[in-house]
Amino acid sequence: MSSQESPVPPTTSDQITTMALEAVGATPNPRTRRIVEALIRHTHDFAREVDLQPGELLYAAEFLKRCGDISDASRHEFILLSDVLGLTMVVDTLAAEVSDGALEPSVLGPFYRSGSPLLPNGADLSRGAEADGVPTHVLGRVLAADGRPVGGAELDVWGTNANGLYENVDPNQPDYNLRGRFHTDDQGRFDFWTVKPVSYPVPVDGPVGDLFAATGRSNMRPAHLHVIASADGYSTVVTEFYTDDDEYLDNDAVFGVKSSLVVHYDWITDEKKVAASPRAQPYWELRRDLVLTPGVRTGVEFTAGREESAR
Ligand code: BEZ
Ligand code: FE
Repeated sequence: MSSQESPVPPTTSDQITTMALEAVGATPNPRTRRIVEALIRHTHDFAREVDLQPGELLYAAEFLKRCGDISDASRHEFILLSDVLGLTMVVDTLAAEVSDGALEPSVLGPFYRSGSPLLPNGADLSRGAEADGVPTHVLGRVLAADGRPVGGAELDVWGTNANGLYENVDPNQPDYNLRGRFHTDDQGRFDFWTVKPVSYPVPVDGPVGDLFAATGRSNMRPAHLHVIASADGYSTVVTEFYTDDDEYLDNDAVFGVKSSLVVHYDWITDEKKVAASPRAQPYWELRRDLVLTPGVRTGVEFTAGREESAR
């Protein structure tokens, strides 16, 4: 360069964004192109907005690596990360528009195990007996929006024991304890026994725990019962029912609570009912009908395994 020529201006971050977008502009699959382009735009804008420093980018890379390192068949730290950031609930809510009164989705969580035993109505999911928790009868109907019963619908349900642990991460519980699938009868009815849900902490022994600590947040989930409701001709709904008197209802670590999913349990002491119940002791009762939305029945693509130590 001679002393007369003007100096070359430095490359701007916006120019790099333009180059990166051009590089993926010929992506053959339009959906992939849309997602990758938006990913580039938003991450670059994010870096500009927070003035992201090279050391912070490295920290983020290391954080994600740790998420991978701690994940295994029974632990999925990336799902947990998405859950605690509220991203899972945003995606699930956008994906499942429902009309007023229809069953709304909530978070699947990382503890779902497919392949639960298919049980007859009236069966008890508790295979760990007393230590599992307080007996609870759950009953209701699966209905269409016009009130017609949906026979042959499937409910896949799961919950923790009284210690707040799922069986797949607890060596003290039998395989598939507190998990099961039920089919509705021709009047849309289902009923099963389980234990009253308790609130429990999401795991904080991994990188997501560092995020909780750094943001000073609670890692508790309010007491809930997981349900996947599916039937031919209806959209599959992955959801949870939240106990109405739980102290963490307004402070769920994963933002899963929706008003329509908050339910009330009645304490049953009537002698005849108690005597006829599987454990012959006072119990909780949850009555709840589920209204499905017409659509496509889909499966759930994720399943956890049972932890080595719990096998
Ligand atoms: C759960 O309810 O099983 C759960 C959901 C999100 C994160 C952790 C646990
Ligand atoms: Fe849960």
